[in-house]
Amino acid sequence: MTKVMLREDVYWVGAIDWNLREFHGYSTHHGTTYNAYLIIDEKVALIDTVKAPFYQEMLSRIKEIVDPKDIDYVVSNHVEMDHSGSLPMMMKEARKAKVITVERCGESGLKDNFHADWELTPVKEGDEISLGKRKLAFIPIPMLHWPDSMATYLVEDEILFPNDAFGQHFATSKLFDDEVDLEAVMAEATKYYATILMPFGDLILRALDKLSGLKIKMIAPSHGIIWRSHPERITNSYAAWGRGDTKSKALVIYDTMWGSTEKMAQALAEGIGEAGVEVRLYGLSQSDRSDIIKEILGAKGIIVGSPTINNGMLPTVAAFLCNLKGLKPKGKVGAAFGSYGWAGAAVKQIEEELGKAGVEVIKSDLAIKFVPDEDAIKKCIDFGRAMASKIG
Ligand code: FEO
Repeated sequence: MTKVMLREDVYWVGAIDWNLREFHGYSTHHGTTYNAYLIIDEKVALIDTVKAPFYQEMLSRIKEIVDPKDIDYVVSNHVEMDHSGSLPMMMKEARKAKVITVERCGESGLKDNFHADWELTPVKEGDEISLGKRKLAFIPIPMLHWPDSMATYLVEDEILFPNDAFGQHFATSKLFDDEVDLEAVMAEATKYYATILMPFGDLILRALDKLSGLKIKMIAPSHGIIWRSHPERITNSYAAWGRGDTKSKALVIYDTMWGSTEKMAQALAEGIGEAGVEVRLYGLSQSDRSDIIKEILGAKGIIVGSPTINNGMLPTVAAFLCNLKGLKPKGKVGAAFGSYGWAGAAVKQIEEELGKAGVEVIKSDLAIKFVPDEDAIKKCIDFGRAMASKIG
């Protein structure tokens, strides 16, 4: 196995999950990596582990560098199983190791997940542990991605190990940002933020503020590539996403039964586009929901359509709105539309759900009976233009 070194005596010992296509409900078209790091000093520290099925890959990488029995500390930056799943097996090998975890939540999280008698060393903001020539400092970053999440900072080398934060689901044999197609990585970083971290924008800004006090040469997250040449690319993006920065762009997201709601979607898009605002259409039966969520992150307008069925909306639209509601997107304006046969409940329900997601809802009066005629299409185009003026 090729050894991957971040700096002298600082190694990547993670695993590559080439075939992962779904991560707790989100699509991952490019697989992922579970990044663990090994620091060799007078004391030996392992930072995070990998998802349980990948334990042997991590162990093989560790064994090329050090006897696992010599590991003194295993830092658990985050309790979620993609990083802690190998801990039970690792702790059987690293018998003398202490497990370092954040005092608030991490300790109880590990106990409740693993029910093991490991020697836990809880740490809090500002705590440091000496490895010999180097020190590890600990910075809690709650909700990036769970309450227990913590960043570990290797002080002398100025390397930040922030676990999920700044990560991407991107499987690669080239682990550094200057060795890969950075735009492809940024697309995955955007999707990662949108699908996993979007609800926590304010906490992300707070974490960035905290981290701005550190000199950071390298950011080594727990998924995807390591930011060695362009760390500011990802931190600046997190600042923009955390603030909820959007651009003049609208998404028309819909599903359709017999093509009427689709005709309305196309007319709305025509009106928005004519007014000079970038617009994209997404049919929910044809599109990947996580890909749409990624696009939502930077778009100002979200216009959602469904025909009425059984006095409600189509299940595809309901699932999308349920997803959106949990993600609490910042700074969006939205509207609803749809065709109906004898009761037009879907439009009102979509407006309600958009409102619950924190979207500023513009009433459209676009519930159209059966197939839209020329007047109805014109009404959709006009409303598209009106929406564009709110988005542009
Ligand atoms: Fe990569 Fe929140 O786990």
